[in-house]
Amino acid sequence: MRVIENFHEMRDWSEAERRAARRIVLVPTMGALHEGHLSLVREGKKSGERLVASLFVNPAQFGPNEDLAAYPRDFERDREMLEKEKVDILFHPSAAEMYPAGYQTYVNVEKLGPLLCGEFRPGHFRGIATVVAKLFNIVRPHAAIFGEKDYQQLQVIRRMAKDLNFDVDVVGYPTVREKDGLAMSSRNVYLNQQERAAALSLSRSLKQAESLVRHGERESKRIVAAVRAEIEEEPLARIEYARVCDTGTLEEVATVKGAVVLALAVRVGKARLIDNTTLKP
Ligand code: PAJ
Repeated sequence: MRVIENFHEMRDWSEAERRAARRIVLVPTMGALHEGHLSLVREGKKSGERLVASLFVNPAQFGPNEDLAAYPRDFERDREMLEKEKVDILFHPSAAEMYPAGYQTYVNVEKLGPLLCGEFRPGHFRGIATVVAKLFNIVRPHAAIFGEKDYQQLQVIRRMAKDLNFDVDVVGYPTVREKDGLAMSSRNVYLNQQERAAALSLSRSLKQAESLVRHGERESKRIVAAVRAEIEEEPLARIEYARVCDTGTLEEVATVKGAVVLALAVRVGKARLIDNTTLKP
């Protein structure tokens, strides 16, 4: 595995691979890797001939009072994990490489960005759309894989790629969970033992919502009430939002007709956790 830190070098490598007609798949990450990230890498290796993983803790997607400084970082561990997966290139640019002095161009996905997490993290999806657009231009992949755990992020990136005519196939991959149901996340390291137990209420509440819908419930209000009740049993958990939304527009829907997404954001201790599930009648 070759580590590339410079965008010219990254581009030159991709250019050569493209000329040799090889399919390049990109898996963007912020590091602190876990099985969720590695599953995306393995999936990418199935569909591409060359796999690029990027590791960049993107300052543009963190708000002024968020966890940019505290975000877990362990480059050596991440590098070894990716090496074991036989990743071809680890693209690891510095903040100055991505946002040099004078930088001032941002990508705004106007309707999807301010909803759900965007309401609580203003500018978050502007930072994500911007860095992913830059990664697409630098790495020039044929396909890029993103986790459904970050459901809104996946929709924002799909929209951005379509609207800006990126010739990149944006692929979603199902959420990878711990045995007990907790969605894997780099931020789970913020949880102590009691908080970790309280965090299980997220996946438990999603299971309960799935069961309600299986048994005929169609009213979003009643589904959300049951989800809230389940999470509120845990005194350490504070709900930011729990909403039933259209899978494409992410607007709230009152009744479950086709497939909808139930999306959650919950604070437990220092961690802000998100999770979601698709509900189908
Ligand atoms: P990060 O949180 O490191 O996640 C990198 C990728 O892994 C994302 O596509 C995310 O959805 C996916 N992922 C995380 N946890 C997962 C899980 N439990 N199961 C499946 N996939 C999972 O998301 C970001 O970084 C950044 O916003 C990024 C897209 C890299 C832009 O900076």
